[in-house]
Amino acid sequence: MSSPSPAIEFQLSSVAFFGRTFDEYLRFFALDEAALRRGRILDVAAGPSSFTAEAHARGISAVAVDPLYGYPADTLTAHVQIDYARMLAEMRRKAGGFRYRYFPSLAAAEVSRRAAAERFLADYESGFLQDRYVGASLPRLPFPDGIFDLVLCAHLLFTYSRRFDYAFHLAACRELFRVSSGEVRLHPVCGLDGKPYPELSRLLDELSLSGIDARVIPVDYEFFPGSDTTLVLRRSA
Ligand SMILES: C[S@@+](CC[C@H](N)C(=O)[O-])C[C@H]1O[C@@H](n2cnc3c(N)ncnc32)[C@H](O)[C@@H]1O
Repeated sequence: MSSPSPAIEFQLSSVAFFGRTFDEYLRFFALDEAALRRGRILDVAAGPSSFTAEAHARGISAVAVDPLYGYPADTLTAHVQIDYARMLAEMRRKAGGFRYRYFPSLAAAEVSRRAAAERFLADYESGFLQDRYVGASLPRLPFPDGIFDLVLCAHLLFTYSRRFDYAFHLAACRELFRVSSGEVRLHPVCGLDGKPYPELSRLLDELSLSGIDARVIPVDYEFFPGSDTTLVLRRSA
């Protein structure tokens, strides 16, 4: 694991509707395709990520949740256009501050992120009708207890820790765990400034009191400095 660099700090006024690919998810969640084939997957705060569209095309059972799902495809296309322009402009401004491990260049990252959104948008209307895309917001999810074998949440908790307070983080982690049969993965474990989530040990202690074992694992992925770990929640033995 490398130490966070102070060289990069995003200036975003709201949570961006911005998404990554299936392959990127495998890397930053330290998963392989065989693990995903073992059961039902839930991706929370999925945005325009192509994870669920690509998983579905591979025959993997995946459902995505985002507050914006339920809006017409045209509205989501407009969100993608606006947020991608804003995010990519910010990324270009900070181009020297990224770690080029997964992507060889910023241009490669841009191509991949745009491809993710296009793949998501192509799947959205039919997927919504098939309940593959569900409109909902943490800290409340509209699912019964334990129905997903693996629950994923990327680039919301910790990433936007200035927007969401500690109580939100704790409630969100408990809710993600409630709908899982025993495993949740969250990435990254740092903010947009690359610094580790400051209340992590308090959060892990409180989760432990609820019977949830929480571990931070290193992952073979890093784009913004400090984003090379993932938090894994499991039921305590
Ligand atoms: C930066 S995107 C991350 C997309 C995807 N998980 C990824 O890593 O590529 C963050 C998403 O969180 C969604 N979001 C914002 N507030 C939320 C909440 N309270 N619960 C769930 N999702 C939320 C936004 O709509 C946005 O699509």
